[in-house]
Amino acid sequence: MESDKNQKDIVLFVTNVKKYFPITSGFRNKGVVKAVDGVTFWVREGETLGIVGETGCGKTTLGRTILRLIDPTEGEIYYDVPGEEMENIIKLETELQEIRDRKNENQNDTEAETLLKELIPLRKKYSLSKKSNREIIQKRKIMQPVFQDPFSSLDPRKLVKDIIAEPMKLLTDMSNEEIEKRTAELLSEIGLNEDHMYRFPHEFSGGQRQRIGLARAISIEPKLLVLDEPTSALDVSVQAQILNILKDVQERRGITYLFISHHLSVIRMMSDRVAVMYLGKIVELAETDRLFTDMLHPYTKALLSAIPVPDPKTKVERVVLEGEIPSPSDPPKGCHFHPRCPVALPVCGWSPRDLSVPLQTMFDQFRNPELAILPEVNEIVVDEDENSVEISFVSAFKSNDEMVDLINKVIEKERSLPNGVRFKAIKEIIPNSTRDGFTIKLIDPKVPQLREIRPGHFASCLLYDAPESSSQPEFADVGRQAAYSR
Ligand SMILES: Nc1ncnc2c1ncn2[C@@H]1O[C@H](COP(=O)(O)OP(=O)(O)O)[C@@H](O)[C@H]1O
Ligand code: SF4
Ligand SMILES: [Mg+2]
Repeated sequence: MESDKNQKDIVLFVTNVKKYFPITSGFRNKGVVKAVDGVTFWVREGETLGIVGETGCGKTTLGRTILRLIDPTEGEIYYDVPGEEMENIIKLETELQEIRDRKNENQNDTEAETLLKELIPLRKKYSLSKKSNREIIQKRKIMQPVFQDPFSSLDPRKLVKDIIAEPMKLLTDMSNEEIEKRTAELLSEIGLNEDHMYRFPHEFSGGQRQRIGLARAISIEPKLLVLDEPTSALDVSVQAQILNILKDVQERRGITYLFISHHLSVIRMMSDRVAVMYLGKIVELAETDRLFTDMLHPYTKALLSAIPVPDPKTKVERVVLEGEIPSPSDPPKGCHFHPRCPVALPVCGWSPRDLSVPLQTMFDQFRNPELAILPEVNEIVVDEDENSVEISFVSAFKSNDEMVDLINKVIEKERSLPNGVRFKAIKEIIPNSTRDGFTIKLIDPKVPQLREIRPGHFASCLLYDAPESSSQPEFADVGRQAAYSR
């Protein structure tokens, strides 16, 4: 976390928040979708924190969890906490997280227990995760959502005046006259007029509906708005109008925004700082200008290189990502991004399943004719628990040493080819005692943690870990690393 000076005005602090959705089939539980998987960040009063990432990375789930529209599976959400208490909470929660990251699991020791003793009453008093539904409804006065789809978020059977008045009626003790007066003021603030009060949502355009949604959200003077793709359903020309209104409203009222969008240009225009999400995790967080011009994480680099550059003379190194976004129900080991990362290291999370097809290809006799002297491959079996791959032949080979030498030579060749980094994760080749196969053992993957690489600039990538922490320096792909890092 940053220096104390910057922590003074933090209004929202989210730590290690997880939201897992169970996958059920009939009565059977078939695992979980890790929609949000250990997210930590804080937001200062009056600023806009942008959250960006491809569809499905967990932005909406994160926004809904923070508002407690859905319950978190784990983690704490601190909002509306007195300044000094917030500083103390951030310090304690950060220390606890650091201890847990070092241990790599929620394995408590005395240090963590001491911290927890202090934290438990604070969590109980302040964390939204621990509040009852009734207490959460009270918090809605100061935190409100604005959703993407103004069509479905406005009740079609209600007049605009009643839609806007709803939160005031539910959450304040304002009189009907006061509510009516305030509704008229709000409409003029967002560029509509009093006549519009007596119409139904279907009589308005998408942009106007989004204005109505905004008027409703700000009617009770919230301190925080969670805006989830507020302009993504609108035409580009209308988008700009709504974004300007949002900026004006924020300037006038000093509201803090959590601004969710998959549109990089919208995020750049609106945000003071930006968090980039990939498969349920924040992979990079920095001030907007810094993020867009001096990004650290390979995923951010790839994501931003996809933006069209207006000046054709400006050369941008385009990074094309290979493969699909993996499923959050079965994310890759280690760094979730490793199967698509153009600069992945051997420790980035290569697991037996990443090697099964490349090993089949390796045994293709057109690719590696020298392997023709070995018996034909019978089966390649991956064992994720043991972090190993077993290869069996249809018959026994002549000599263990000869076989191991030969396989080692071919693996060495594969390592030097494009995409060969996964072969660098091979630690050991162990021949079977029956000489009819061998086991490949992989090195243990590391899990990158979101760390402050430069003041205020956080990234979660093993490229930025201290070199002495690399357990396999002989495998380090220094050339690729140097070409990519700045
Ligand atoms: N209610 C739910 N039940 C099960 N899975 C869900 C639910 N809501 C979202 N998901 C899954 O969680 C992941 C993140 O979704 P979402 O938060 O909507 O991402 P984004 O807003 O970034 O597009 C997706 O894989 C999505 O399918
Ligand atoms: S840790 Fe960094 S280098 Fe390794 S796969 Fe992830 S993003 Fe790429
Ligand atoms: Mg979404």
